[in-house]
Amino acid sequence: MDVFEAIQHRRSVRSFAAQEVEEVKLSRILAVSNDAPSAGDLQSYEIVVIREPERKVALARAAHHQDSLVDAPLDLVYLADTEASAGKYGERGRRLYAIQDATIAAAYAQLGAVAVGLATAWVGEFDERQVRRVVGAPEHLVPVAIIPVGYAAELPDKAPRRRLSSLVHHEEL
Ligand SMILES: Cc1cc2nc3c(=O)[nH]c(=O)nc-3n(C[C@H](O)[C@H](O)[C@H](O)COP(=O)(O)O)c2cc1C
Repeated sequence: MDVFEAIQHRRSVRSFAAQEVEEVKLSRILAVSNDAPSAGDLQSYEIVVIREPERKVALARAAHHQDSLVDAPLDLVYLADTEASAGKYGERGRRLYAIQDATIAAAYAQLGAVAVGLATAWVGEFDERQVRRVVGAPEHLVPVAIIPVGYAAELPDKAPRRRLSSLVHHEEL
């Protein structure tokens, strides 16, 4: 599967089979995140792998009861390390680059998951403080996304998109 096929096949899956995720597949997904670009190559983010049922329940609660986080065999929590980026880039690193680093790494993981036959969704609606508490993160780590990973138990239709011509502008808006 090339990158265009992975992008085409990816869609948000919110219902997962009970089947476990093989370690070799998880390693490949995490390695794809590790290959993502980041500001100054600082990789200002952390990834927490959550498998414990009680912790998944706590994550789902923090995410306003999004039960796909319990359903999935594992959840990946991406946290931006604002201070790591601020150390080199000041306020722009704290406010923007750390968030972008974590976001890009998580987006790459979603594509890596598709390439190894797995499914994901991006869960961004959650209480930051609660998520931090669940994973034991200090204040300067900002949870950016929770990505449930597993084998799809549904095949949702491809979500509609804006027409390219409405979002691409040549020379000026
Ligand atoms: C920043 C962000 C936050 C999101 N938060 C959630 C969420 O909390 N729960 C959820 O089910 N999907 C969430 N999504 C997934 C979107 O709903 C989904 O990507 C969009 O509807 C397009 O569908 P697709 O991913 O299948 O292409 C989020 C996506 C992004 C990028």
